[in-house]
Order: sequence, then C-alpha cells, then structure tokens
Amino acid sequence: MCGIVGFTGRENALPILIKGLYSLEYRGYDSAGIAAFTKEGLRVVKTRGRIANLEEKIREVGCDMECTCGIGHTRWATHGEPSDRNSHPHLGGKGKVAVVHNGIIENYKELRERLEAHGYEFKSETDTETVAHLVDYLHTGKQEDLAKTVLAAVQRLRGSYALGVVSMDNTQEIVAARRGNPLVIGIGEGENMIASDITAIISRTRKFIILDDNEVAIVRPDEVIVMNEFGDKVEKEVQTVNWDMSAAEKGGYQHFMLKEIMEQPKAVTDTVTPRIKNNAVCFEDNGLTDERLRDIENIHIIGCGSALHAGMVGKRVIEAMCRIRCSAEVASEFRYENPIIGKKDMCIVISQSGETADTLAAMRLAKQAGAFTIAIVNVVSSTIAREADGVLYTWAGPEIAVATTKAYSAQLAALYLISVKIARVRGLISIGDERALCAELQRLPECVTEALKCQPDMQRIATLYANRPSVFFLGRGLDYAAALEASLKLKEISYIHSEAYAAGELKHGTISLIEDGTLVVALATQPALFEKTVSNIREVVARGASVVLVTTDDFTGDESVCQHIIRLPKCLYEFSASLSIIPMQLFAYYVAVERNCDVDKPRNLAKSVTVE
Ligand code: G6P
Repeated sequence: MCGIVGFTGRENALPILIKGLYSLEYRGYDSAGIAAFTKEGLRVVKTRGRIANLEEKIREVGCDMECTCGIGHTRWATHGEPSDRNSHPHLGGKGKVAVVHNGIIENYKELRERLEAHGYEFKSETDTETVAHLVDYLHTGKQEDLAKTVLAAVQRLRGSYALGVVSMDNTQEIVAARRGNPLVIGIGEGENMIASDITAIISRTRKFIILDDNEVAIVRPDEVIVMNEFGDKVEKEVQTVNWDMSAAEKGGYQHFMLKEIMEQPKAVTDTVTPRIKNNAVCFEDNGLTDERLRDIENIHIIGCGSALHAGMVGKRVIEAMCRIRCSAEVASEFRYENPIIGKKDMCIVISQSGETADTLAAMRLAKQAGAFTIAIVNVVSSTIAREADGVLYTWAGPEIAVATTKAYSAQLAALYLISVKIARVRGLISIGDERALCAELQRLPECVTEALKCQPDMQRIATLYANRPSVFFLGRGLDYAAALEASLKLKEISYIHSEAYAAGELKHGTISLIEDGTLVVALATQPALFEKTVSNIREVVARGASVVLVTTDDFTGDESVCQHIIRLPKCLYEFSASLSIIPMQLFAYYVAVERNCDVDKPRNLAKSVTVE
C-alpha cells in the first residue's frame, strides 16, 4: 500500500533511496519516484511502472542526481490511475515542497477546492498533491518551520497518512508524520532515514524508532526530533532489529515465494518451540495469562485474506478442542456490522503485517466494546501488535513475496497453541492430553518437511493444468478452510479464476459450472469425512471434471476416480490444514511460473493493505 523512504546524511542519497524502494516494492509497484536536493535544486523524477523503470528514467533524464538528502515512493494507486503524473513525489506550490504519502486523505476534495481558490494548480488526480500544496500554503518559509507547518497541515487532514516532506528551505531535513500508516525512523551515524518498514533501512542501520499516530518528526543527519500533536518534544525508545539482510534475500531460489514455501518447517518450529516447556504450552508472551484465557465466553477471530483463512482453520480447531463458540470474520465486514461483542469475549486478530487497516479498525472496535484482544502478528512492533492486549508473534521472519505462505503456516501454529492452552486452562483436556498434543505440535515441522516432498509432483500437475480457465477446490470442515486458502493462492499469483466450495454445497447450484475438463482439486484429510468427500468427487467426475485428490497416507476410499493423488504424512487431524496447504501453495506457484506471471509481485495486489 505504497512504500515511502527518505535519507539524509553525507553519502549520495540516490542509491540508498533506490535500494530502499526495492525493498518496499512489495507494498505497491505501479509507479515510483524520488525527490532529491541536487545542485540544480529540488529535482523530482517519477514514472509509471517498477523501480527498474524509475532507474532507467533517472538515467534518461541525465540530470546530475548527486544529492545527500531525498525522499522516494513506490505506489499502489488509490486516487487516479497509475501514470507518470499521478506518481509521487508531488510538488507543492511552485516546486518548493515535495511530499510522499502512504494512506488516504478523505477530505482531499474540499481541500483541493479551497486551495484552487487560492490559485494552486493541481497536476494530478491524487489526494496527496493536496498535502503538498497545503504545506506550501501554510509554510512561512522560516528554516525551523517546516515541521510546525506539517503539524498544522495534518491537523486539517481527515483519513490516514504516513508522510515524508522536504522543502527547499532546508535541504538536509526531512519531516515525517504519521496517522494510521506505518513509519519507522532509522537511526544511523551521521545519517538518518525514514521508511514504511524496517526492510528499507536495515542495510544502513539496525537501530530504529517507531513514529506513533499524530507524531511529527524532524529528521536531519545528526539528529531526530519527535513532537506530539501539540508540538511538544517526546522521547522515543530506540529499538534494534534482530534479523539480518540474508533473511530478506532470495538465497538462490528463483522467487521469494518458493524460498518462503521451503522455509515453512522453520517458521512453524520457531513459532511453536519457544512456547512449549515441559510438555505444556507456556506463553511468556505479553498479556496471555491463564486467567484471561480461562473465562472467555465467545471468541471472534478477525483477519483479511490469508489471515482470515488461517482464522477459519482456527475457528474449527478451537471449537473442536475448547467447545467455545468461535467465529472467523472478515475484518472489513466486522467493523461495520455492529457486532455483538461481550465483555468476556476474546478477539483474536490475525495479520502478517500487523498494519492492515480493516483488521486494525476491527480490533479497535472489539477493544472498545471491552473484549480482550490477542494479536497473532509477524511484524514486531507493528501497530496491531502494539495496540492489542496480548501478542503472540509468529516468528516466520520477513516475508517478501506478496502471496503469503510461511506467515500463514506460522499463524496456524499459533492458533493451535492458543487452542491447546485454552482447552487445558478450562480443564477440557488432561495433563496427559496436553503432553500428547504438544508432542504432535513439535512433530508438525517434520510433517511439513515430508509434505514438501510433493514438490516434483505438484510441478508436473501444475504444468498439465496451467492453461485451465477455472479451477475448483473442494473440501469439508478443515479441508474447506484449507481449500479457501488454496483457491486464494491460485487466484493471487496465476490470475486463473477459481472457487473454493464446501464439498457438500457444490451441488446446490455451482455444480452447473462443472463441464468436460474442469479441474477440481479435492482436499480430504479427515478420515471421518473421506467417504463423504469421495461421493462429492464422484458427482463432479460424472460431469466431466478432472480431479486431483489431496489426502493422507491412510486414505482408504476409492481413488480410481481421480486423475492424480497426493498423499500427505499423517498428523493429528486438527493440525491437518498445515499439511494440505503445502501441495496447494506449490501448485499455485508452479502454475504461475508456467504462465510467466510475476510470482512475487502479482498484478493489482500489495502485501500490506493500509487503506480501507
Ligand atoms: C493483502 C494481501 C493478502 C493478505 C492480506 C492480509 O490483501 O495481498 O495476501 O493475506 O492483505 O494481510 P495481513 O498483513 O493483515 O496478514
């Protein structure tokens, strides 16, 4: 959802900004630009397309971009199509101020009209240009004043923003502001940076501070001053990143997605291992005390996309193990449907990025209603992690591919841990049961490793079916939840239309879409439902479908009706969604590769969706 970066120091800022932009490209990649103070003044180069196109344009423009301070942006369009003129940075006034923005300014239309009445000419359709002109309009031009001007400007804005602003009045200074969108400030030696996330600063420094909502920061080479909305200086905690660059590099794989698929055993291990002590689930994580978990009346699980699908698995596991009513809800719906939330309810909020706008808003709503909120989040110190009452980090490491794989698997593992814990503290399982469940959880990474061995089969199957216009995924119970994620993966990266259906529901209408040669992928990992799913497979085979069956080693049903069968290692059936998704991720990946799609950066998507 747009990435912003800024650098001020002594070295040439240009390569640093470009490198930063490359690492933020997962946030949006339809256009890119930079503004920098060069010998010729404040120069802006921007273009529709990827960062590589921006580099090319910088070369073409041929201007001397030697500079020590600048800001950059990679865009995911919200207001106005991706085009050169809608790309950021936007200039304010007569080119004195430049602004990069992540977020949405909701009152941009009325501000634009008022600024136009003051003679400002708009060159783009974006909401961001309003901010640039507004800052110019309010700017008195005194050197120290840019931060105060930005402070005054943001008070006139409705909506959300992370902003980077520079002005000709001080060519070594960047002013940053935030409300609702992430922004970190990298603290270096004689240089400082701003960025949408840590990946953009980590090659220069491991130290950073997180800007909070309504704060404004002045960033100069030798100092960073943070002010609150009243303009008072605030002391900020300097934090240190604990992972290194190699975690965010491809390490010999063709795509980040494949690397991240292969990293899943580790992601599950790192999420589970620190939370199992003496054969029992033990949370030393913030806020997750036994008392809080004992007295829950209902559980609401909230998320978007894959995080929601993880929640749908979690709902089934929790209800089966803990007998607590649990719902898994789409965050963007939950926030507007006046949900019934009791004071003894728990809300589990799932988000890889910890910044998803809808998920964050839904969590705030649940908190306000008095629910106890637990966040399952991958990005340390992200907004959701900081605002939730309790946090269970998924230690999946940085996930770069837009389509999530390892963070999803780690989310499932976190949900299993919560489920076992709740079942135990409520006395629904014995110490012995807990020990057995913990042993199964500890064995899960091995099972995932084993499941990954289907890679060559999935590559072959993907090649056979990569040209199908439509694919159906069927399953019951946990397999249905996994089917939803399987279908999303395929849609996200291969652009093939696909649907996931509860296997028993297909016949109630949608079966009319099955015709000769339609590919149906059936997931059947729960012995109790084998026969039922096989009946549904027969229904589609009778109508000409080709079937890939994903099942377990001990599948006993009739497999003769299926074209392909993938057998997964046996694990506790409650944890089976962690295995059935593996061949599905690989299938989506190889179909996308076969179709020459941009696997890591699929069209129209962004990894972190910080707008509604
Ligand atoms: C975007 C991504 C999805 C992701 C969803 C939730 O839509 O494209 O892949 O699942 O956001 O992201 P989160 O960071 O909250 O898990």
